[in-house]
Amino acid sequence: MIGQANGYRVSITGLGAHVPERVLTNAELAQMVDTSDEWIVTRTGIHERRIAGPDEALSDICLPAAREALDRAGVQPSSLDLIIVATVTPDMFFPATAALLADELGASEAAAYDLSAGCTGFMYAMAQASAMLAAGLGRRALVVGGDVLSKIVDWSDRATCIVFGDGAGAVVLERAGAGGFIGFELGADGSGGFDLYLPAGGSRAPVSEETVERREHYVRMNGREVFKFATRVLVSSGQRLLDECGVAVEDVDVYVPHQANVRIIHHAANRLGILPERVVINVDRYGNTSSGSIPLALADAVEEGRLKKGDLVLMTGMGAGLTWGSGLMEWTEEAA
Ligand code: ACO
Repeated sequence: MIGQANGYRVSITGLGAHVPERVLTNAELAQMVDTSDEWIVTRTGIHERRIAGPDEALSDICLPAAREALDRAGVQPSSLDLIIVATVTPDMFFPATAALLADELGASEAAAYDLSAGCTGFMYAMAQASAMLAAGLGRRALVVGGDVLSKIVDWSDRATCIVFGDGAGAVVLERAGAGGFIGFELGADGSGGFDLYLPAGGSRAPVSEETVERREHYVRMNGREVFKFATRVLVSSGQRLLDECGVAVEDVDVYVPHQANVRIIHHAANRLGILPERVVINVDRYGNTSSGSIPLALADAVEEGRLKKGDLVLMTGMGAGLTWGSGLMEWTEEAA
């Protein structure tokens, strides 16, 4: 689907991010599986990633991010109408992590649900929440993107365990006088679903001794296929959205692509024609944090003073599904 924003103008009025304390370096990984710092850096650009502790679940890393976003927006949790948590690693299948988060925050008036769209979840969730607010269904939403993929990664599989990390980011969305979201482009191609999936634990293959023995409770990924898909959709989705909104690529001030692999990011920016200094990259420090990726990158851009009021921001996510999603917005917050 593709479309320009309609109705009330909606924008991000507060942003927060949180990562677990524990840093896992490439050198440590090289002691766990047959790999090297040089291989990981050359093939992915990743130097280190954050890993949740044994007792740390998704809601534990979402909570500080959500509190920071609400603080920055000056919004009381009790005035939230909606909370969406985009994730593939909820605390448990149900209740939704969003409902648990609402309770911890004291957001007693908010509808709360989780959204599963792989690493694209945060873009899907922002599109949904902003469209609801634009249509007048509520005034304030909290959108959280976060994952603790370390909990479902096979730490003996060098093809997957080097790529992922844990982290979460949150944004408060509210009506804005001007600026804010301009449009979204979202899509899915389920024919590639088995290029990145978790075989067991759902109704197709409930967890059993056999599934555990076959290690089906861990992520499976066809890295090469996902790589090809990613390089294709980051370009096509971003370009389609810019065309739909009548915006020239030279007018994009800040480009925030999903942080999966620095080679994918460079390829997409290059093909789109976006100058390197306009591209936000933090995959070197966090790895692929799935739904946490884009809000963590936005938070870094704010921290570094790279996002100024009036800037045009293009964001594109892609991931399991296979799914993709782009959003274009005019930043409405003053620089930090
Ligand atoms: N260390 C050393 N060698 C390795 C490692 C490793 N960690 N992993 C794989 N290799 C080997 C392979 O066995 C292979 O050896 P061979 O040639 O003898 O068969 C060789 O390195 C090349 O393997 P490729 O898989 O072709 O390596 P590639 O350059 O494609 O890099 C990677 C692999 C990093 C996974 C890359 O394909 C990639 O980034 N893919 C996209 C992944 C992605 O974005 N996933 C997340 C999507 S978002 C979501 O929803 C969670």
